[in-house]
Amino acid sequence: MKIMRTERDLRKTLWGWRGSGDRIVFVPTMGALHEGHLTLVRLAKKHGERVVVSIFVNPTQFAPGEDLDAYPRTETEDARLLEAEGVDMIYIPNPETIYNVHHATAVTVGGVAKGLETDYRPTFFDGVALVVTKLFNRVQPDTAIFGEKDYQQLATIRRLVEDLDMAIKIVGAPIARDEDGLALSSRNAYFDADGLALARQLNGIMKKCATDMRDGRHVDEATLAAKHALLAAGFSSVDYVEVRSPNSLTVLEGGYLNGPARVLVAAHCPNKGQSVRLIDNFAV
Ligand code: PAJ
Repeated sequence: MKIMRTERDLRKTLWGWRGSGDRIVFVPTMGALHEGHLTLVRLAKKHGERVVVSIFVNPTQFAPGEDLDAYPRTETEDARLLEAEGVDMIYIPNPETIYNVHHATAVTVGGVAKGLETDYRPTFFDGVALVVTKLFNRVQPDTAIFGEKDYQQLATIRRLVEDLDMAIKIVGAPIARDEDGLALSSRNAYFDADGLALARQLNGIMKKCATDMRDGRHVDEATLAAKHALLAAGFSSVDYVEVRSPNSLTVLEGGYLNGPARVLVAAHCPNKGQSVRLIDNFAV
């Protein structure tokens, strides 16, 4: 497995692979890898001959006061896990080359990127869209894999690629969960036993919400009940529980389920005197 840090080395290797007709599948990450990321890698292998995983904790998607400095960095362990999965290359760009002092270009996505997460993290998807555009330009993959765990992010990337005519196939990977249904996340590493026990209640509460709607309950009533249940369980606050159409992420007309939908949730789970923000989503 190659570990590339400079654009020159990256391009040279990719050029060789493309020359032999290999299809390149790309999995962008911020490291601190867990089983959820590894499911993306395994899916990637089915879509081409060469798998490239990037590790870059992208400063432009963190707002001031978010956990950029505290974000877990576990490069040696990440490399070990990726090597065991048979990844062909890890790309770890130097932060100064991604955003040099002269950098002055923004990428802004509207539509699916508006609302939900951006109501609470207004510049988040601009930061994601910018770094993903840059990484796509450097790696020039045939296919890229993103997890449904970050459902609005996946929808945003699909929009970005279509709108900017990037010839890259975007594949969504199902959410990997632990045995109690908690979506795997790098931030789960922050939890103590109590925090983890509470976080694991999210799944059951959201499943109940989905069942209520399937049984004909109005979307507003079911989501309000879910918010109350989260607060009653001990979550300190709930940013949103919303039901949207699965592709356009638009609000359901009429307020009742009339086909496939997605319930999206963001809630704050108290932990060690602070709180961990959890996001998750479920197909209904
Ligand atoms: P990161 O949080 O490291 O996640 C990398 C990829 O792994 C994303 O596509 C995310 O949706 C996916 N993922 C994480 N946990 C998952 C789980 N439990 N099941 C399935 N997929 C999961 O998302 C980012 O990094 C960044 O925003 C990035 C796209 C790399 C841009 O900086």
